[in-house]
Amino acid sequence: MAFKHISAAEAASLIKHGYNIGLSGFTPAGTAKAVTAELAKIAEAEHAKGNPFQVGIFTGASTGDSCDGVLTRAKAIRYRAPYTTNPDFRKAVNNGEIAYNDIHLSQMAQEVRYGFMGKVDVAIIEACEVTDDGKIYLTAAGGIAPTICRLADKIIIELNAAHSKAAMGLHDVYEPLDPPYRREIPITKPNDRIGLPYIQVDPKKIVGIVDTNWPDEARAFSAPDPLTDKSGQNVADFLVADMKRGIIPPTFLPLQSGVGNIANAVLSALGHSTAIPPFEVYTEVIQNAVIGLIRDGRVKFASGCSLTVTNDCLNEVYRDMDFFRDKLVLRPSEISNSPEIVRRLGIISINTAIEADIYGNVNSTHIGGTKMMNGIGGSGDFTRNAYISIFTCPSVAKEGKISAIVPMVSHEDHSEHDVNIIVTEQGVADLRGKSPKERAQTIIENCVHPDYKNILWDYLKLTDGKAQTPHCIRAALAMHAELAKSGDMRNVDWAQYK
Ligand code: COA
Repeated sequence: MAFKHISAAEAASLIKHGYNIGLSGFTPAGTAKAVTAELAKIAEAEHAKGNPFQVGIFTGASTGDSCDGVLTRAKAIRYRAPYTTNPDFRKAVNNGEIAYNDIHLSQMAQEVRYGFMGKVDVAIIEACEVTDDGKIYLTAAGGIAPTICRLADKIIIELNAAHSKAAMGLHDVYEPLDPPYRREIPITKPNDRIGLPYIQVDPKKIVGIVDTNWPDEARAFSAPDPLTDKSGQNVADFLVADMKRGIIPPTFLPLQSGVGNIANAVLSALGHSTAIPPFEVYTEVIQNAVIGLIRDGRVKFASGCSLTVTNDCLNEVYRDMDFFRDKLVLRPSEISNSPEIVRRLGIISINTAIEADIYGNVNSTHIGGTKMMNGIGGSGDFTRNAYISIFTCPSVAKEGKISAIVPMVSHEDHSEHDVNIIVTEQGVADLRGKSPKERAQTIIENCVHPDYKNILWDYLKLTDGKAQTPHCIRAALAMHAELAKSGDMRNVDWAQYK
């Protein structure tokens, strides 16, 4: 079947007010870009005429500015799920302008299938190739593309020449059945392939092909600094010690590592550690550091949902696909982040916290307990099911005015029951096998910045120290209240709570 080639503006005109649109991609990698940019113009024109124009957006994870950014500024988003990182979107969410549903990334495709979020009217899929019989070859990410392609009434393809056709074969497309017919996902090793290298759709659903040449909008990370390097080294040293005492097998275990600078520093420290054998990565986002480690022979294989790398790095992978072909696979997010597989493979998870409390509860999403930062992403998918779950964060934020370790988290994403290890640049708190009171001692001793150690010991003195989880409830959020009042948690005065 010969498809109609249409402009991005024509494609956007097929999307009506009130539609739910499903997007390919996961992070800015592999996300459709041209049609959403045109959709923002339509929304602005309709708003200028006094007409409502808003859509719901279903994605794999965050997108680039050409989606979340332009659509937010055009006030074109009614509803959005899941994760995002866009600053304009964040502002709009925290002003109450967008209904944002922040769910675990592994759950997104199935919740769309279960009908929790309504119908998918149009899917916009970035591809590097599409065949007349409806085989869609994705670009740099799996995301929720297989599910939205199957459920959407119409599919628009962005055929993006910025992605090489060498991406064909990178993907392993597999969509599980829903209960009561769900079976085990037959992945027993990170490099298992269980599906197809393309998404098969009914070609009649493809309403147009938009030809583009638009590189991914991936961010470069800032250069490592001594603080992130120290945290990275702390994680690597901890894992080496665990391997030496036989807790981690001598072959090591697959690693999941979150996004950002600390994650990169951890990978770099592990990559340089001679005590750790070459290892595998089973993660959601493959960053530059992993590609470098594959080159160096330190990472044997990487399974992920996206290649969220700089464009130079992506082109290098495409150019050298003969080398990378048997060392990389991209999967849909419900497979890359599947709790079943994380548990089976014994993954070591490493994610970043905004704050943690003295008992090991972690807040990954909310500043001051109320304002959304990005979202939970895949951190919960991995943390709860990991062989060892690790959280890292700097011990202080905002020039020391904020302690990342507090008496009680102001919002909880990962509970004390799931969090094994907390790492800051100060050191490592190993919470495994400990009671809450023992955990508090370990966390304060090892992870807290020296400015806050006595503050937290003094907090504990406000409690009777006997309960399972001792708290002075009136004072539990006093450090946050102090920050709101004076701008510095160090000014907290416990005397009023005695
Ligand atoms: N209170 C208030 N602000 C805080 C804070 C705290 N306890 N801790 C950090 N911040 C601020 C920082 O000062 C910084 O502010 P700025 O943007 O004004 O400079 C901002 O929050 C981001 O902090 P930073 O240290 O730069 O964090 P990051 O880029 O490493 O991101 C998370 C940290 C937690 C926001 C990020 O990792 C995330 O979104 N995680 C959740 C999803 C996830 O884990 N995904 C991976 C799964 S694979």
